[in-house]
Amino acid sequence: MSDHQRGYSDLSGQPVSLWIDTTPETGYPSLQGDVRVDVAIVGGGMAGLLAATMLKESGRSVAVIEARKVAQGVSGNTTAKVTSQHHLCYASMLGAFGRDDALAYASANQAAIEGIRVLAERHGIDCDFTATDAYVYSHDEAEVETLKEEVEAARSLGLPAAFTAQVPLPFDVAGAAVFADQARFHPRSFLLGLAAALPGDGSHVFERTRVLDVNDGQPCTVETEWGTVTADDVIIASHYPLNDRGPYTLRLKPKRSLVLGVLPEAPLPAGLERSMLISTDPMHSLRTQKWRDREMLLVGGEPFKTGQADTVELFLNLERWTRERFGDLRVVYRWATQDNVTPDNVPFTGLLAPGAEHCFVTTGYRGWGMTNSYASAALLHDLILGRENPAAAIYDPNRLKLQGLSQVVTEAADAVRHLVADRFRSVDAHSIPPGSGGVIKEGIRPVAVYRDEDGNEHRMSAVCTHLGCVVGWNEAERSWDCPCHGSRFAPTGAVLQSPAIQRLEPDEPE
Ligand code: FES
Repeated sequence: MSDHQRGYSDLSGQPVSLWIDTTPETGYPSLQGDVRVDVAIVGGGMAGLLAATMLKESGRSVAVIEARKVAQGVSGNTTAKVTSQHHLCYASMLGAFGRDDALAYASANQAAIEGIRVLAERHGIDCDFTATDAYVYSHDEAEVETLKEEVEAARSLGLPAAFTAQVPLPFDVAGAAVFADQARFHPRSFLLGLAAALPGDGSHVFERTRVLDVNDGQPCTVETEWGTVTADDVIIASHYPLNDRGPYTLRLKPKRSLVLGVLPEAPLPAGLERSMLISTDPMHSLRTQKWRDREMLLVGGEPFKTGQADTVELFLNLERWTRERFGDLRVVYRWATQDNVTPDNVPFTGLLAPGAEHCFVTTGYRGWGMTNSYASAALLHDLILGRENPAAAIYDPNRLKLQGLSQVVTEAADAVRHLVADRFRSVDAHSIPPGSGGVIKEGIRPVAVYRDEDGNEHRMSAVCTHLGCVVGWNEAERSWDCPCHGSRFAPTGAVLQSPAIQRLEPDEPE
């Protein structure tokens, strides 16, 4: 790292999400031996826990199998906006999918808001569920027509949308699309409450149990490092279909973005506490959350493709943007969130592949995972129980109307570029300061070198164990990130984020 480059110590705030910092750690057992259930669910995030809850309430025994800890991955690092307003989507969705499918999507996501509220109430979960309005706003007069078209499209699909020039922000905007009857909540409080109700009556929650393979069949089997779960049906809700080496690696783009939890010195504008706002381009999102005796402002933005950005600079940009608009403030938290984007911006939820019979997948929420995970869980519940669901067609991972195929080609080309070009980029191992990492070149081998706070060097192969791209060091989050399909690894190589399932291998000199 060169002298002028800014690093970890230049960043403000604790490197943890507000949600994780304000809830207890979970301690579910690892799988020990073999287990038989009706439905095995790979991944203990929001989609997995919701699907498990719905299926158990319908009399199915379930096993949630989580590689790390439940509600600590994507769901523990979200901005948690419970809204059917997914930026600007309905005008384009009507054009791309037609009215029936767009209506199914809109209805499923609006219904999810009430569904989450009802589930929280039924399980007695205090998760600060609060009714809010949701806005997409623009500074650009030229975008006002686009906003109005979005409002018209959303209204035609039965959503509570309107156009306004009034937003609860300390700066002027050209206009906004506002949706009423949306909500905010504390996602981890909600999910830990759901998880706690799952074990018993033949159902289980397993943590620290990494799934190694899934076999579709009658029955299906889920092979883990500690034993096998046998089930009639399997749902893969692990964010990225685990260890996929086929169609999903071509059709999912991993996107990461940053969040700051800040306490401005000046009072927040009236109405902001009951609002969630997102700008058109560049994208910045705002919402508040109760924190101790204050309202904390959560500011999201600076999206980037995983493994392809200077994360320190992006965090500093986001802090600068926030200070310019809200004045002096204290940064309490900083974190990042990751989601996958499909070529047509609609999730993949349904049978894993053509020909699959009992193996289902859900992924690709494009940053709108709160209602999309509920809608997907409800759809998976219905598919497994053999019930009709109007959202089945638009969410179908094997849908024939798949739009955006040019993006598929672009993603494939991008992955190839990182398979080849990055092997020739390297740093000098001696320049890596304590707490940091870098990829060095040993002959033709790329080696990931992490120097811990005590100065000890940890060397691993820098070749991602998914499909062989070369990982890069994420200075702000202290992780190794793969630029191809979004796998992430801890400084000493453990898997943080799929699709990789194996840790970075020890460096073995040739
Ligand atoms: Fe696919 Fe790394 S995530 S090669």
